[in-house]
Amino acid sequence: MRIAVYPGSFDPITNGHLDIVKRASRLYDKVIIGVLDNSSKKPMFSPIERKEMIDENIKDMPNVSCDVFSGLLVDFAKQNGATVIIKGLRTVSDFEYEFQMALLNKALNPEYETMFMMTDSKYSYISSSMVKEVAKYNGELDGLVPQNVILKIKDK
Ligand code: PNS
Repeated sequence: MRIAVYPGSFDPITNGHLDIVKRASRLYDKVIIGVLDNSSKKPMFSPIERKEMIDENIKDMPNVSCDVFSGLLVDFAKQNGATVIIKGLRTVSDFEYEFQMALLNKALNPEYETMFMMTDSKYSYISSSMVKEVAKYNGELDGLVPQNVILKIKDK
């Protein structure tokens, strides 16, 4: 069984993230989305809120699940029996940071492979931080994030 983890802050999940999840779910038997509980960052949503928003959007994907994790990603992968770490790439600047993380994760545990998936070009400009910026100034969020996330952002 090929199990992959797809880690991130997902504060909040975007349509770009969901596109990667959907495509990864066709490549692996099981995909586990790992929501990082990172207390040093000041997130808009709690890890549980982020997981709830994700859960609503993966209902129709039977081989995809979501869990909150803290600590090292390689430990989360190990706990879930995963051998693959999925990362989405939008730009060349993403690559530099992701390359460093992939090498670090490999050094921490050589059993895991990081697989990079290129974002669909129609999502290449979307990031969680841009979504929050647009939301702050009451900009249009349609097309950037799923409907349940739009409602949650409006609540906040
Ligand atoms: O969505 P993000 O914030 O770019 O995701 C970053 C994430 C969660 C993938 C990364 O910070 C991570 O893996 N954190 C867990 C701690 C860890 O394993 N650090 C060492 C490798 S960077």
